[in-house]
Amino acid sequence: MNIPVSENRYDNMIYNRCGESGLKLPVISLGLWHNFGGVDKLETARDIIHYAFNSGITHFDLANNYGPPPGSAEENFGRILKSDLKNYRDEMIISSKAGYLMWPGPYGDWGSRKYLLSSLDQSLKRMQLDYVDIFYSHRPDPETPIEETMMALDHAVRQGKALYVGISNYSADETRRATEVLESLGTPCLIHQPKYSMFERWVEDGLLDVLQEKGIGCIPFSPLAQGLLTDKYLKGVPDGSRASKAHGFLKKHQITDDKLQKIYKLNQIAERREQSLAQMALSWLLKDNRITSVLIGASSVAQLEDNLQLLDNIKFSGVELTEIEEILGG
Ligand SMILES: NC(=O)c1ccc[n+]([C@@H]2O[C@H](COP(=O)([O-])OP(=O)(O)OC[C@H]3O[C@@H](n4cnc5c(N)ncnc54)[C@H](OP(=O)(O)O)[C@@H]3O)[C@@H](O)[C@H]2O)c1
Repeated sequence: MNIPVSENRYDNMIYNRCGESGLKLPVISLGLWHNFGGVDKLETARDIIHYAFNSGITHFDLANNYGPPPGSAEENFGRILKSDLKNYRDEMIISSKAGYLMWPGPYGDWGSRKYLLSSLDQSLKRMQLDYVDIFYSHRPDPETPIEETMMALDHAVRQGKALYVGISNYSADETRRATEVLESLGTPCLIHQPKYSMFERWVEDGLLDVLQEKGIGCIPFSPLAQGLLTDKYLKGVPDGSRASKAHGFLKKHQITDDKLQKIYKLNQIAERREQSLAQMALSWLLKDNRITSVLIGASSVAQLEDNLQLLDNIKFSGVELTEIEEILGG
């Protein structure tokens, strides 16, 4: 069965060029880290993916270990793709990664050639795909020569199992080094995936400059700080939220009074702008033209619908930006 696909799906989305490459990405991309695993409802996952695709979100981000259990998000995505969207593979950018613990023993973690290439084969099998569009080194490995990790990415492209390569969680210096190795191999680094949000701003301290200099795109992950940068935690921890779940990576102790005060004040600015805090937090990242796309998560179609409305109001006044800085710095 192929789903009914909207003919207007590209009408309202904005597509940004990824660095200096030929590839364009939607300003909002969907990540499958939470809410798409074996513990989640497949029907909800399916609805979110359909809604995303019908709204012009062409980019879906996975990793070998997404679930839980690890691997189940890729399996579910592969199942949905095959049953509902198989005619649209060429309209999609699908990424996966290897770098965190996936299987026991010395070859199921970090950045060796042995791990990366066997993991990519496993990811392709789980997703029932011949190739991914982007294959990432999920994190730098302090014990493996960066040349080895980058040669594994380059090899994935030469094998035809990945069209582009990227890196994630690499510091500014590590990014420079990795990029130079990739350049020497003839496979440019397409994109960097760092953690970046109003609450997590390390990338402003050098990484964004390196990405611009090298012509590499940037796709911030957890741009809503896992849901903190919405109004949902202002009145406690709601049932079903990430912080309420045992397997959720957002822990209750991370929802501090200091954070809540900031969220409360940010929410007031968002209300003045006639948008939700989630929309404002995403727009705030996209105001920097070095940001290619924001990589969000969603546990419902309603959240995705909300976040997509950011497209109505991406601009900030100087006064708003100063007020936001004061709140974040205070
Ligand atoms: N490279 C890496 O190391 C790495 C690490 C982490 C993530 N990632 C990637 O980044 C993606 C996104 O990460 P993330 O899920 O942490 O992103 P996020 O966008 O910061 O958080 C998503 C969560 O925020 C809540 N949410 C989203 N929109 C909302 C709205 N409009 N109103 C209220 N709540 C809303 C939902 O939480 P509830 O579930 O509570 O409803 C949702 O699950 C991942 O799926 C993955 O692809 C990469």
